[in-house]
Amino acid sequence: MATIIGGVATTHVPSIGKAIAENKQRDPYWWPFFRGFDYVHAWLAQEKPDVAVVFYNDHGLNFFLDKMPTFAVGAANEYRNEDEGWGIPVSRSIAGDPALSWHLINALVADEFDITMCQEMLVDHAVTIPMALMWPGQSWQGIRIVPVAINTVQHPLPSMARCLKLGRSIGRAIEAYPQELRVMIVGTGGLSHQLDGKRAGFINKEFDQFCMNKIVSEPETLTRYSIHDLVEEAGAQGVEFLNWMAMRGALPGHVIEVHRNYHIPISNTAAATVVLENHAEPKRKAA
Ligand code: DHB
Ligand code: FE
Repeated sequence: MATIIGGVATTHVPSIGKAIAENKQRDPYWWPFFRGFDYVHAWLAQEKPDVAVVFYNDHGLNFFLDKMPTFAVGAANEYRNEDEGWGIPVSRSIAGDPALSWHLINALVADEFDITMCQEMLVDHAVTIPMALMWPGQSWQGIRIVPVAINTVQHPLPSMARCLKLGRSIGRAIEAYPQELRVMIVGTGGLSHQLDGKRAGFINKEFDQFCMNKIVSEPETLTRYSIHDLVEEAGAQGVEFLNWMAMRGALPGHVIEVHRNYHIPISNTAAATVVLENHAEPKRKAA
């Protein structure tokens, strides 16, 4: 059976890709953020995932405002990146796992999630930046992904509760997958940021800390925040936290935080990296 080893959540600011291309990881501006990945690299080397299910939001590369699925699941052999205009090099393709994708798609539809299935899917910086952070030098040849896109761009957006449930459905489906696979879950984007309008540059450290604390063992508490509340508290693009909620939902066991790095700002964003481990529920004694 497949095993869910844990989750990694991280910011996906495009300028991180530029810093990597220019080898600026150790510059004073960048080091407080990049150093947070030493732990992630050691964790990945120890945990050896085969597949990553990646919750992210597309920013206009694969989906545009003319057609915007609320939830879309990739079922491709390979996921390509293209130039999005951020001035960062196009990244190397990432392998897919169509068998696992179709298993998840079947389970989601059976669970009444009306998703969009994508046998071709370009992945943007919200996938490629976290991949490049986790596997430096784009050394992800041994890893396959199932990308799951959540609409955080065109309102109305799915609620925090709905994204938590989406993750839970995927978590149950992974645990029922008959292959011996080590699966990690990734959630990208956030934390607080607003890129445009009167509040451009808005960051809310207190709310970010609250979200990072609650998501570990009380994610339901966060479902009382409506999308409107989230925009108010975290900024118009801080709603990318929906990807973190889905990631957390996909960890069905006993969850512990083993790593956190929080740094303000990277570009206009409160940059956060968190590693959560998923442990099988401790066995209860028979009564
Ligand atoms: C920035 C943050 C994002 O999440 C994004 O998708 C694009 C830009 C930024 O802070 O620059
Ligand atoms: Fe973004």
